[in-house]
Amino acid sequence: MAHKNKDPEKPEHIDRSRRNFLKTAGVAPLVAGVAGAGVADAQTGPTIVGPGTAPVQLLVNGKRLNLNIEPRMTLLNALRNKADLTGNKRGCDRGVCGACTMIIDGKTAYSCSTLAIEAQGKQIRTVDGLANGATLHPVQQAFCDRDALMCGFCTPGFVMATVALVEKYPNPTPAQVKRGLDGNICRCGTFTRIMEAATSVKGVARG
Ligand code: FES
Ligand code: FES
Repeated sequence: MAHKNKDPEKPEHIDRSRRNFLKTAGVAPLVAGVAGAGVADAQTGPTIVGPGTAPVQLLVNGKRLNLNIEPRMTLLNALRNKADLTGNKRGCDRGVCGACTMIIDGKTAYSCSTLAIEAQGKQIRTVDGLANGATLHPVQQAFCDRDALMCGFCTPGFVMATVALVEKYPNPTPAQVKRGLDGNICRCGTFTRIMEAATSVKGVARG
């Protein structure tokens, strides 16, 4: 029997992918993450938060964000829908395409597959925080200079993955670029130019 979509505005596959993500994440980390937001009691154990909204504090691009969200909300949705940080995109919403790539505590992460509540206490960086006023980050500039995009939908994720790469390897080899960006997909097929852009970046300090 066909599954009935309760919200006609919302594509049905989004609901399905969310269920898959929670299944993949497993119950234990979800409970641990949710419980971590509550106050532990020595006798009764951790306070369970949710399923309603709960206060969640995030450190994003060096600024503190106080949100009131359901514990099941992903980091990507929390930042895009509740904090107006829409630079990173939602492509597959299931940890495949890399459009949502952010840097959490120095490492790339798919924000569509990370719960916001789990990211509390961590340094979160999104593409929105890279430029300094009108001056682009060297990675953003390299993508522009090498014309490394077509539709641009994958670009924020590739840019963030490249930032993490060049902060680790300031002059990456083509092999290091391939490996560093292998979690991202460009459906327009601009891989050659993305490779060129990533290998041409100069002036990023080691992270
Ligand atoms: S939207 Fe997160 S990996 Fe595709
Ligand atoms: S530029 Fe269109 S998906 Fe990469």
